[in-house]
Order: sequence, then C-alpha cells, then structure tokens
Amino acid sequence: MTIPELGWPRRTERLELRLPTDEAIDEVLRWRNHPDVTRWLLRTTVDPESFRKAWMASADDPLDHAVFVHFDSVVVGIASLGVQDGLGQREDGEPWRAAEGTLGYTFDPAYAGRGFATEVAGALLDLGFTELGLHRITAGCFAANTASARVMEKLGMRREQYGVRDSWHAELGWIDGCQYGILAEEWDSAR
Ligand SMILES: CC(C)(COP(=O)(O)OP(=O)(O)OC[C@H]1O[C@@H](n2cnc3c(N)ncnc32)[C@H](O)[C@@H]1OP(=O)(O)O)[C@@H](O)C(=O)NCCC(=O)NCCS
Repeated sequence: MTIPELGWPRRTERLELRLPTDEAIDEVLRWRNHPDVTRWLLRTTVDPESFRKAWMASADDPLDHAVFVHFDSVVVGIASLGVQDGLGQREDGEPWRAAEGTLGYTFDPAYAGRGFATEVAGALLDLGFTELGLHRITAGCFAANTASARVMEKLGMRREQYGVRDSWHAELGWIDGCQYGILAEEWDSAR
C-alpha cells in the first residue's frame, strides 16, 4: 500500500503547521512539562532527549504525521495524526489496511481557549480524510479533560465509548475515560 507524501509547511486560518526542528523542540520543552499540560496526558513529564528523538523520528515515519504549530514566531502547540490498520477480515483487498487515524494534540497553556487546538485538529481531520483517504479517525481522553472533549465535540466527533474507571491517573487513581470517533462521510457532509 502506498501512503501519500504530504507537503509541509501548510497553513490554517491563523496558524502554520511545520515539521519538527531542533529549535522548535527547544521551544516546546519550555512548556511541555508544565503541570497544566501534563495533568491529563498519558505521557506526563517527558525527558527532553527522548522527547526530541521521538519527534525527530516521526518526520521519517510515513504513518506518523506529527506537526509543530506556529503562531507568528512562537511554537504554541504540537499535534499528530497516526495511521494504523482498522479491524477487518483478510479478504477482498483488505481496505482496512492503514484506514484509521489517531489524533493527538497538546498546546501551551499560555494560548489556551483561543480555538487553536480545534483549528489544528480540524486541519488534521481534513488532511486524514481528503489526502490520506482514511475511513475513520479516533481520539481518546480522560473524561475529566473537558477542554479536550470539547475540541472533539466542536469538530463533530461522536463519543463512542465511555469507560467507567478504565483509565489510570497517577494522582487520582482509576478514573473514567472516553473515546471519540468520526467517519470520512460524516466529515464530508459536515463541511
Ligand atoms: C486540550 C487542549 C489541547 C485544548 O486546547 P485549546 O487551544 O485551549 O482548545 P480550544 O480553544 O480549541 O477549545 C477548548 C474548548 O474547551 C473549553 N474549555 C477549556 N477548559 C475548560 C474547562 N475546564 N471546562 C469546560 N470547558 C473548558 C473552552 O471554553 C473551549 O470551548 P468553547 O470554544 O466551546 O468555549 C489544551 O488545553 C491542552 O493542550 N491541554 C493539555 C494537554 C492535553 O490535555 N491534551 C489532550 C490530551 S487528550
């Protein structure tokens, strides 16, 4: 199966999405381990060198579309769309191969509440459906992460799963988690 090459950088209404660079990673590391950022992440505090290695490696992985979000000259966020196989029977061309995307996003709390995450997540949904030809895109969050759940709801994603105490949080113990999803045809008809 051929995964299309994507062109970078690309613009959204107010932001520019670029591939990671060492300088941009340094900027993100200034806020990435802030408690307001780590509170609802699965990967909480990051080691700077492992973080750098992982993001630089993403640039060479055709299934990992990871971007740094620039607003004017500042890196305000990071986001990614990973591509994976869906579920399916091993028959008829296996259309489920590389048919699903998983969305993720993290923003500098200094720029919260300005619609930036929604703008970027929307751009990644659009890219996933229109350029990568994905069938479905999902994302998960702790149920108490209202800002993240709201981003997905604003984009028309459906809450497909609510797991009672299915997610482990280092301070809170077992808490509820959610999974959201949207199909290509739903994205198309909402545009
Ligand atoms: C979640 C996150 C990406 C949102 O970024 P953002 O740029 O502020 O998002 P947006 O401005 O596009 O939308 C946020 C929405 O949540 C709402 N919101 C924010 N905090 C909220 C809260 N505590 N309770 C209820 N709603 C809240 C905002 O009002 C806004 O909704 P609105 O447009 O209807 O008013 C950002 O807070 C973040 O990076 N958090 C830390 C990392 C993280 O949790 N990542 C997601 C992991 S699943």
